[in-house]
Amino acid sequence: MGVRIIGIGSYVPDNVVTNFDLEKFLDTSDEWIRTRTGIVERRIAPPDMATSDLATRAAERALKDAGISAEDLDMIIVATATPDMFYPATACIVQKNLGVRKKPCFDMEAACPGFIYALDVASGLLNLPNYRHILVIGAENLTKFMDPEDRATYVLFGDGAGAAVLTKDDSPYGIITSCLGGDGNLGDLLYLPAGGSRRPASKETVEKRLHYTVMKGREVFKHAVLNMQAAALTVLQRAGLKKEDITWLVPHQANVRIIDATREKLGLPPEKVYINIDKYGNTSAASIPIALAEMKEKGLLKRGDLVLTVSFGAGFTWGANIIRWG
Ligand code: UT7
Repeated sequence: MGVRIIGIGSYVPDNVVTNFDLEKFLDTSDEWIRTRTGIVERRIAPPDMATSDLATRAAERALKDAGISAEDLDMIIVATATPDMFYPATACIVQKNLGVRKKPCFDMEAACPGFIYALDVASGLLNLPNYRHILVIGAENLTKFMDPEDRATYVLFGDGAGAAVLTKDDSPYGIITSCLGGDGNLGDLLYLPAGGSRRPASKETVEKRLHYTVMKGREVFKHAVLNMQAAALTVLQRAGLKKEDITWLVPHQANVRIIDATREKLGLPPEKVYINIDKYGNTSAASIPIALAEMKEKGLLKRGDLVLTVSFGAGFTWGANIIRWG
């Protein structure tokens, strides 16, 4: 039995913050950000807008696109590293917001590749008799966890959400295969030091700004390039496909230079790669579903197109999916 994406939708907050806006309070420049990352602007959620708010709006759009109601869902999975709170799961809050009850719901924390992980997990579950429709959401409110005084991280991230409705299906369309990877040995290159059980919130952790993300960017960059290239090749091999079979490469949007390196390894021309980092920055687990929703809206995705998604993030974690669109 196959698993098809029957609906997709996304939501980003209205508030646009440009590189020039950041120049006003950070020792940075539009030129540096643009040339080093490809980012021109990003969306920043207002203080009272939580991850579940972004996720719910994306979910409503995906359900509308799928032509089913929230009542038809058998499960909700939210991939996020920035939940509303530790518990309840953001997926439970989304369920409440959608006005339904008694559905299994849980969050998945696999950082930037969270949506790719969730597609693979949901595909496995949809092969069981219990489930027919699963809502998978990638949603992040990352800017609340970036230090506005740290130019090395604050300029990179943005907020947003994307959602997909998955269903059992025996057509030739859908998720063909996935490959997931992880390595916890290098976790200290990208992490959020305080607020968890290792370093619970205290006056000291707040004073030391330990509730903000720490990243050794250059090191992460090298691992991102290597692992995204490897994951893309592995998933192609697993699917029995050649590089030239791919219609679209839809990579995680962390840095346009990482995207270019992945594309070059696959030998794909630039027009086969979807890039929107210029508008949204790095939205972590939301970047791939936001891209897919935008591509669908623009009419770029045609029935039968072979889409390769690939991502890398904190953990480290990485992964890729091959989807035959339709
Ligand atoms: O989402 C998945 C995980 N994240 C990633 O994949 C991100 C991976 N890393 C990157 O994308 C890049 O490493 C960054 C964009 C974070 C940084 O680019 P880089 O080319 O690796 O720069 P760098 O960290 O080596 O810094 C170069 C210089 C440094 O100055 P010095 O030491 O050469 O004087 C930094 O202090 O650029 C400086 N710098 C900045 N300058 C202006 C760092 N951030 C900024 C900034 N504005 N915002």
